[in-house]
Amino acid sequence: MNKDFISIHDLKFAEIEEIMVLTTDLKQKQKNNEKHEYLWAKSMAMIFEKPSTRTRVSFEIGMWQLGGLAINLDQEAIGLGERESVADVARTLSRFADAILIRTFSHDKVIELAKYSDQPVINALSDRLHPCQAMADVFTIQEKKGSLKGLKLAYIGDGNNVCHSLMFAAAKLGINMVIACPKGYEPNEEIVKLAFADAKVTGVEIDILNDPVVAAKDADVIYTDVWASMGQEKQAKKRQKIFSKFQVNSKLMDLAKADCIFMHCLPAHRGDEVTADVIDGPQSVVFDQAENRLHVQKAILTLLLGGKNG
Ligand code: CP
Ligand code: NVA
Repeated sequence: MNKDFISIHDLKFAEIEEIMVLTTDLKQKQKNNEKHEYLWAKSMAMIFEKPSTRTRVSFEIGMWQLGGLAINLDQEAIGLGERESVADVARTLSRFADAILIRTFSHDKVIELAKYSDQPVINALSDRLHPCQAMADVFTIQEKKGSLKGLKLAYIGDGNNVCHSLMFAAAKLGINMVIACPKGYEPNEEIVKLAFADAKVTGVEIDILNDPVVAAKDADVIYTDVWASMGQEKQAKKRQKIFSKFQVNSKLMDLAKADCIFMHCLPAHRGDEVTADVIDGPQSVVFDQAENRLHVQKAILTLLLGGKNG
């Protein structure tokens, strides 16, 4: 593994596989109440500049289950880049903690933090990427489907941070992905270029369309996310109109395979990007996805901090 966990694009196939194998092991240990304190006395400082439920709680509890400690630093308290420069915060925190986690707006801030930190930095969501989410997602798909190669993942909605990290994961792991977004809301061009390059190596097909019906057809997985991400609240009304044809409802689900699963990173807005009957229905695996954040992140932490060998 690299020093930091910032993007799935940076990971080799074998490293992703290592995370998945350790996740299975840690999940089993957790279910069996077996001790797995691989990070005894290790610590992590967590910076959240945006709200969070799943990320914050799963990392805090995960670190505790591994025998370590995670402390939460709100932006208000530390004023990253305002009260003190990103570089100085990175150099200070890395003298106290064994890892630093950050959820922020600008992806460049994550990169800068990692540059000046002597300790591993974990990207817990930026405007560009959400790699911990995508790792939990592919782990969940593997659990539900048995294997990943050749599956069709349809992502319907905004070409956002979640979509970007899923593209990287799909390209590396052999999942074909069809993305349907309204015109002008497709994934970022730079990310697309990188993901397409990875896909070329693995023989994966990634298509970007503007038609949710074509995307959903015969899909094994249908995935959606909010139409307005954190920081885009002012655009929410405008987006509601633009995205209305991209709602995942039972009509769209009916176009997919009969055993298609529905996924959403949460939080969700019922009645917007997904109807209640779909997200609360039998095909939905959203809470398994949420649970797997805990297990997969414990694996990432253990590997980054050298827990099993240290
Ligand atoms: N999916 C996700 O990252 O949830 P939170 O924003 O609640 O952490
Ligand atoms: N795209 C969403 C994901 C939330 C977990 C956001 O950035 O707000």
